[in-house]
Amino acid sequence: TRTLDLAVIPGDGIGPEVIAEALTVLRAAVGDSVEVHETRYPLGAGHYLATGEILDDATLDALRQHDAILLGAVGGDPRDPKLAGGIIERGLLLKLRFAFDHHVNLRPTRLYPGVTSPLSSPGDIDFVVVREGTEGPYVGNGGAIRVGTPHEVANETSVNTAYGVERVVRFAFAEAEKRRRRVTLVHKTNVLVHAGSLWQRTVDRVAAENPDVTVDYLHVDATMIFLVTDPARFDVIVTDNLFGDIVTDLAGAVGGGIGIAASGNLDPSGAHPSMFEPVHGSAPDIAGQQKADPTAAILSAALLLRQSGLDEAAARIERAVEHDLAGRGNAARTTGEIGASIAEFVASST
Ligand code: NAD
Ligand code: IPM
Ligand code: MN
Repeated sequence: TRTLDLAVIPGDGIGPEVIAEALTVLRAAVGDSVEVHETRYPLGAGHYLATGEILDDATLDALRQHDAILLGAVGGDPRDPKLAGGIIERGLLLKLRFAFDHHVNLRPTRLYPGVTSPLSSPGDIDFVVVREGTEGPYVGNGGAIRVGTPHEVANETSVNTAYGVERVVRFAFAEAEKRRRRVTLVHKTNVLVHAGSLWQRTVDRVAAENPDVTVDYLHVDATMIFLVTDPARFDVIVTDNLFGDIVTDLAGAVGGGIGIAASGNLDPSGAHPSMFEPVHGSAPDIAGQQKADPTAAILSAALLLRQSGLDEAAARIERAVEHDLAGRGNAARTTGEIGASIAEFVASST
């Protein structure tokens, strides 16, 4: 039998709650056809406060050996001075994305039947954001001088390389070929002219090789308008790391809520393990109360299976989620109840 060797980082807050459900559903989806190995890594804000460790080299090397990583969410109370400056987010989450060359951050949005969008006439929402994952201002190539004085200067530099932009743009076009063949570049080329020009020229060049794909450009501010007034126009959005971060929270909201928004941090070359996680964070406001919706984590597990070549198991999860969402109504259910009902449907369809 085939094996799937998973690294699991439950993380902080609602992370462990949603990951427990995602793993139950994943196991139900693969059944006996795949031997699933789980290795748990107790990383996150809680672990750091208890041990002083964020992510050491030995742990990074151990993570590298797995087929894929499933992560809940990391990060603690933003007001905790011991966690200031995004020490966990940068030292753990971003470090993993950079170390494992996760240059594609794939974030699909679909308004499932029966799900209420906050939009009054949402239309047929089904698009995917291909967010660059290893460049932009996330590189940390900034600095400040005269800190704390009236003459302080604080710079954050967005790094955009021809190599980095081209590979993510190519991925977006390949994705479009499998979908409705429409790529929208989202940027701010009217102000960020150097990076904007590189992105636009790269898209133009790749577009010329893919004449069957319709290409569009939108400034990021106008994108906010269309995501609310006409989200059905989008098929594949390709954008940089920071714009992609912002666009995908709005995408999650219009698609029925951050509780169902999934994501994959991919190294499509397969040289490093890809990492799958909900778009949402550790939600300290509802942690420990079984109030979190595990659907985003469950759909992230489906993305993991698809990336691992287990398409049928992935599709079983997606059908089960679709079934569950369609019948949800207003009944309040716990994290565990939602997970169990999706797992049950998955098991009955294998
Ligand atoms: P958040 O996504 O954790 O929460 C925003 C709001 O959405 C909260 O009201 C929360 O209750 C709600 N929410 C989130 N997930 C939900 C779910 N599954 N079901 C129901 N409601 C849900 O964002 P935040 O408050 O800005 O961040 C909290 C912490 O998480 C911070 O430390 C942040 O840095 C971190 N964070 C981590 C990741 C990650 O690990 N991938 C992603 C985003 C934020
Ligand atoms: C996300 C998160 C992260 C990001 C943070 C926690 C570093 O918001 O995964 O969307 O900005 O990428
Ligand atoms: Mn984000």
